[in-house]
Parts: sequence; C-alpha cells; structure tokens
Amino acid sequence: MSATPASDSAALLARADRYYVPVYRPRRIVLDRGQGSRVWDSDGRDYIDFGAGIAVNSLGHADPELIAALQAQAAKLWHTSNVFVSEPPLRLAEELVAASAFAERVYLCNSGTEANEAAIKLVRKWAATAGRPPERRVILTFHGSFHGRTLAAVTATAQPKYQQGYEPLPGGFRYCDYNDLASVEAAMAAGDVAAVLVEPVQGEGGVVPAAEGFLAGLRALCDRHDALLVYDEIQCGMGRSGKLWAWQNDGVAPDMLCIAKALGAGFPIGAMLVGARAAETWQFGAHGTTFGGNPLAAAVARVALRRLAEPALLANVARQAAAL
Ligand SMILES: Cc1ncc(COP(=O)(O)O)c(C=O)c1O
Repeated sequence: MSATPASDSAALLARADRYYVPVYRPRRIVLDRGQGSRVWDSDGRDYIDFGAGIAVNSLGHADPELIAALQAQAAKLWHTSNVFVSEPPLRLAEELVAASAFAERVYLCNSGTEANEAAIKLVRKWAATAGRPPERRVILTFHGSFHGRTLAAVTATAQPKYQQGYEPLPGGFRYCDYNDLASVEAAMAAGDVAAVLVEPVQGEGGVVPAAEGFLAGLRALCDRHDALLVYDEIQCGMGRSGKLWAWQNDGVAPDMLCIAKALGAGFPIGAMLVGARAAETWQFGAHGTTFGGNPLAAAVARVALRRLAEPALLANVARQAAAL
C-alpha cells in the first residue's frame, strides 16, 4: 500500500476547499481505497465504513463479483443512449419486474432524485390523462421526509431547511404528519389528491418506520380517492430492512416504487417501477434521460440486485438488526 504523506492530504483538502462549490463540508480526511467494510485514508489509517456512502455500499468495497461485472461490461459496451436497446439494462428491467412483486414496467435513471422526479411527473401525467385539471393533481407527502434535491423533489421533501431560498417552488404538493392517518384522511377529503408519496421508513433525522397499519391505511385511502400510492425506497429498500423491499414488512404493495443507492452498490443508477394502474401512462416522448440505465451501471446493478435479494443475506440483515 502506498500511503500519501500527511502533508499531501492536507494539501488535497485545501484544494477541495478552494475548487469545489462548497455545498458539502467534507470530513478532514482523504479516502483512498476500500475493502469489504473497511476504508483507508491517504495517510494509511483504516476505518470501519458505517457510512457506506449513505446507504449505498451494501455489498462493501471492492467486491470481486461487482468488479468482474463492471470490467467485463467496460470491455464490451459503455454507452448507447436509450434510443438503442442493449442487454444489461433490459435484463435489469426484467429482473426488477420479477423481483418487485407488483411492477409491470421500469424506467431507469441515474439517481434517487431522478427516480422521484420521474414518479412525480408520471403521477401528473396519469391524472392529466384521466382528465383531471391541474388543481386536482395534488401530491401528498410527509413532514420529515426526504425525496431529493431537484426543484420538484425538494418541494416533495416537506422540510423547510431544504426549500428556503429556492422559492418559487412548484405547486401541487400538500404535507401531512407521518404515521398520522387522520391527517391524511383530512388532506384527501376534497378529492384533489392524485398520489401519496411516502417512505416506508423515513431516513432523515432518525430512522422512523411506518407504524403498524399506516401503509395499509394509505393504501385504502388511495383506493377510495383514486390516487396512486408511491413508495420512496431509495434509502430503505434493497434489503436494508431485512426484506428486499421495506414495504414487504407490511405486505402493502404500491402502485409505483422509486429505488437507487444500493441498487448500484456504488455505481450511480436509479429506477422507477410502475404497476398496472399507471404502467401505460407514459408513451413515446413523455420523459427521457441520456445516461439512465447505462450498460455499465446496469451490469453492476444486476449483480447487486441478485445478491441483495438472496434469502441468506436478508436473514443476516434481520439477525444483525436484532443484535444491534
Ligand atoms: C429517501 C430518499 N429519497 C431520495 C433521495 C435522493 O437520492 P439521490 O441522492 O440519489 O438523488 C435520498 C438520498 O439520500 C433518500 O434518502
């Protein structure tokens, strides 16, 4: 291992402070390499990586199978754009549908925020196609949520600290209290809600799971008011709850599911899965992305999905959770 002298890491940090737009306040170390659950800094110190890239590196660092998948695909085809079909994203979409237990179709993108942005747009189009005027396409979200940083996703994120200074925010969002079905029932009473967007486990400012019966209650309200139930499992999905999908702990399937983070195990990718009620809403030209479902990302994600869905791995998650 070639450790960089301490003075070099100080110099690198000074350059980071100088050149990056300072939206982060990075730790005063420079990470250099990883292996399994450990990372080493450029001064040769090692750490246990509990951060895991913010719920991303679920299979650890330098996993041989992930490296092999990436290297094999890198030697074959990096990028095509979505005006062509290539095998890794197609297979990933098939495998996601099969693993989802509810979805008919998949839209691949590059991040969690993009998956949510896609879901928000699809909900709006779904309601528009049904003849609902714009003021009856409200999307209901929850205080304490986090859905990402684009303008629509940050508006869905019902936390003022992420929104202040970015006004005017897009309209058509309404906020309720998490785990408070009565507040949702009241907010849907006017019949103008097109979708409820919710994390089955809120991941910002603590880990707050849906209370027993909350998701079932949302499902019933969505069905009663002809609204779509959309889960943001970008952080809590991909096996982190002991089931592949966090919603499986309550057995309440959504109409749409947004995932990212551990789906790529460190390679950027996101996905929006759509069930039968809205699977045909988006047609040619409705949305798009240059890089989404890139063959490199998809090749890695296929391995991550298969590994994170293994019963033995999920049983171990449940065991570790109980121990912790
Ligand atoms: C629940 C949830 N949704 C959306 C996002 C945004 O994902 P990304 O940072 O990949 O855009 C995050 C990121 O932390 C998240 O935790």
